[in-house]
Amino acid sequence: MTELEINKIKQEICDIGKRIYDRGMVASNDGNISVKIGENEFLCTPTGVSKGFMTPEYICRVDGDGNVLEANPGFKPSSEIKMHMRVYRERPDVNSVVHAHPMYATAFAIAGIPLTQPIMPEAIIFLGEVPIAKYGTPSTDEIPDAVSPYLQSYDAVLLENHGALAFSDSLLNAYHKMESVEFYAQLLFLARQLGGPKELSQDKVERLYDIRRQFGVKGKHPAVK
Ligand code: 13P
Repeated sequence: MTELEINKIKQEICDIGKRIYDRGMVASNDGNISVKIGENEFLCTPTGVSKGFMTPEYICRVDGDGNVLEANPGFKPSSEIKMHMRVYRERPDVNSVVHAHPMYATAFAIAGIPLTQPIMPEAIIFLGEVPIAKYGTPSTDEIPDAVSPYLQSYDAVLLENHGALAFSDSLLNAYHKMESVEFYAQLLFLARQLGGPKELSQDKVERLYDIRRQFGVKGKHPAVK
């Protein structure tokens, strides 16, 4: 990848960071984003900055162990880089990882309720279900270890008492997964206030799984092995 191409991705990370911040999917300096740019090379957001106000000079470059390859003075890679690297290691199809604390998805993660109710076609086709990885202390191996069991069947997981993690073949698609998780969580929350969602029947769910298989949608899904 040329430096020009790498700079373009740095700008994209800033643009997606702003979108995440502007949509209220993170508060303050929360959240982090990474993109794979080579076999053992990744770009990531720095620790402790607002994702809404980044410029390309903020973005760090690391290897697969999280060692710094490039970082401007005053910037260090995200404290959650191990979580991102575990996803890349165990999912060779993934080129980008997004971590955020969207309000509704995080509320479900805090209440310990996974997003499993079949309530709308898009969530069933594109996410299937969103499980909860058990609580781990941020920045330690506990979160990567907790997320690992779900990586082969899902493209998004809730992090217990913490937030959400989404990953895909591109930065935009990883971001879109995060948006879909939050939209699903918000709908489920609101439907519960309205007396509880009317769940789709198993045969309707099966037809949606068929559609996913026919579309050949990329990524992992609990119903498509
Ligand atoms: P960093 O600023 O180190 O990326 O951490 C933010 C965060 O949300 C931790 O969960």
